[in-house]
Amino acid sequence: MENNLVSISMPRIGDKAPEFKAVTTQGMINFPEDYSGSWVILFSHPADFTPVCTSEFITFASMEEKFAKANTKLVGLSVDGLYSHIAWLRTIKEKIEYKGLKNVEVKFPLIEDITMEVAHKYGMIQPGESNTKAVRAVFVIDPKGIIRAIIYYPLSLGRNFEELYRVVIALQTADAFAIATPADWQPGDDVIVPTAGSCGVAKDRMEGKEGDMHCFDWFFCTKKLDKNTIMEKILKKE
Ligand code: BEZ
Repeated sequence: MENNLVSISMPRIGDKAPEFKAVTTQGMINFPEDYSGSWVILFSHPADFTPVCTSEFITFASMEEKFAKANTKLVGLSVDGLYSHIAWLRTIKEKIEYKGLKNVEVKFPLIEDITMEVAHKYGMIQPGESNTKAVRAVFVIDPKGIIRAIIYYPLSLGRNFEELYRVVIALQTADAFAIATPADWQPGDDVIVPTAGSCGVAKDRMEGKEGDMHCFDWFFCTKKLDKNTIMEKILKKE
């Protein structure tokens, strides 16, 4: 930020994640540099000590290890201050039980962003929804610091964290196996092979000459990809 002007931007898929240094509940972070080599989910929430956000934090924190096994770190943000964050995370751990989850410790960093500098850099303040709170933004960032997926939710709608896990696994699977994933894909479901790039390949595929593929038409072919094969390749070894 220069001359006290806040830079407002809406990063896009494929962009380098905007850089920032910030105070968090786990100390200072230099983003995305500190996360080089890991996938990251950078997400915002509207405010501490609010019910939807509390349900989200308990759910997300309870899945932190599952994300860590997929080489994925979590980083939260709201425009509240550090002491509010600390007090809220202590309350969550000490007092709140949600869906059988209790004593949940939020170990991932939660950014304080009272100046809204980071929120504005990532397009998290959306004035039609609120001028004073971040919407529920999700940025999935790859090990090279490139934004690979962006999802925004309004203030009233709690996120589906199993869907965020599916997004991370699908992106990693696409990278590792050079495939795409169809609607509602889950690991173990058939995957989409790259579309035929020549008339010859299109013909071969339609004549069944390309081996283990099922073609709905020349441009839409799938193949089997076993869940264990995926997980062995992308999950961290114990
Ligand atoms: C909530 O997390 O409950 C919430 C936060 C801001 C506006 C509405 C709901």
